[in-house]
Amino acid sequence: SENGTSGRGALIVFEGMDRSGKSTQARRLLNHINATTKHGAILQPFPDRNEPIGQLIDRYLKREIDFSEKALHLAFSANRWQKEPLILETIDKGVDVICDRYAFSGVAYSMAKGLDRSWVRQSDVGLPRPDIVLYFEVSPEVAKSRGGFGEERLEKEELQRNVAKEMQGLRGENWIIINANNDEDTVERDVRIAYENIIKTKELGKLTE
Ligand code: TYD
Ligand code: MG
Repeated sequence: SENGTSGRGALIVFEGMDRSGKSTQARRLLNHINATTKHGAILQPFPDRNEPIGQLIDRYLKREIDFSEKALHLAFSANRWQKEPLILETIDKGVDVICDRYAFSGVAYSMAKGLDRSWVRQSDVGLPRPDIVLYFEVSPEVAKSRGGFGEERLEKEELQRNVAKEMQGLRGENWIIINANNDEDTVERDVRIAYENIIKTKELGKLTE
């Protein structure tokens, strides 16, 4: 069950706009890791709609209940904190954790709606820091050609543009930009190359302000 040099699992985050293909590719990477390694991986989507706070978020997104913007932000963040023990235990066992969205979505969506940068970052400080963030960059034209936005709140073109802008400011040295305009197999190859080249520190880090 040896995983890389440190023995622990890797924390891998997929980020990007809606219709950039990240959910499809996150599942493909999950299958690839489970088929080719002993240690395996789990997939953790955020929001996690199965967990109690995630059920409230789900009802908000379906326009069944309302949240104030700040309460909504904290709900998304609390939804991640609910999964922190599971993420840490899994990594500790040597199993990789693949997150479909993470705190960067939390920060970028809330900043795009006008909330203050330092306020929105605070609630995620201390969460496990990903070893790698795969940022799916897709042109508005290609995204549009993949079909219109769904019915859910937040799936609005102007908001998405602002979110993309805010995401630029969050890039760190552990970010890999994936050209999500390419066909699925090309993107899958790029994701696998990024996975093979993850450099893990001995201990998993934590998100800072
Ligand atoms: P999405 O990834 O679209 O969920 P699903 O794959 O189940 O459709 O996420 C739902 C919406 O929530 C999406 O518009 C992004 C938004 N979001 C936030 O505003 N803050 C967050 O912290 C997260 C994780 C997502
Ligand atoms: Mg969606």
